[in-house]
Amino acid sequence: MSAFNVTRGHWLTVKSQCQAVRTPVFVDEQRVDPSEEWDDMDEVSLHFLACTPDGEPIGTARLLPDGHIGRMAVLAPWRGQGVGDALLRSAIAAGLEAGHSELILHAQTHAAGFYARFGFVATGDEFDEAGIPHVRMTLTI
Ligand SMILES: CC(C)(COP(=O)(O)OP(=O)(O)OC[C@H]1O[C@@H](n2cnc3c(N)ncnc32)[C@H](O)[C@@H]1OP(=O)(O)O)[C@@H](O)C(=O)NCCC(=O)NCCS
Repeated sequence: MSAFNVTRGHWLTVKSQCQAVRTPVFVDEQRVDPSEEWDDMDEVSLHFLACTPDGEPIGTARLLPDGHIGRMAVLAPWRGQGVGDALLRSAIAAGLEAGHSELILHAQTHAAGFYARFGFVATGDEFDEAGIPHVRMTLTI
């Protein structure tokens, strides 16, 4: 298992590290338009950041005040090593601490199985978001 740790932070303090993950993953790799990637929700969300022991950011996610989890991203060389798992666990724990009884996310359909492992259940039909097929999923906690 590779070494990394997950911390929580607000946009003011983690912005550049989150951008260092989300730009290569969403903007470069998945061709999401930067105007869609960066929205007003970043400033009001709680962010989760996975870093190597020397502080290099390798993964991120965010929890919105309404219980939506989103922007889950792990740098390509770090995938398959438990980073996404640790980030989602942190986000779910934070959602529970915030008093939510239900967590919601818009999963890219290729990643629905990743979220299903945690008990997220698909609700509704597939839809397009930022040019990528998504499905709404919920977790009752
Ligand atoms: C989806 C993503 C966040 C997963 O992160 P990761 O660090 O590779 O995931 P992990 O290594 O923690 O995997 C945890 C488990 O989920 C499984 N898993 C990972 N990706 C999966 C997928 N796309 N579908 C189904 N299962 C998946 C792994 O096999 C692993 O299972 P195991 O413990 O039984 O071996 C990562 O692939 C990613 O950043 N992709 C590009 C961005 C993206 O599509 N984000 C999702 C937006 S909704």
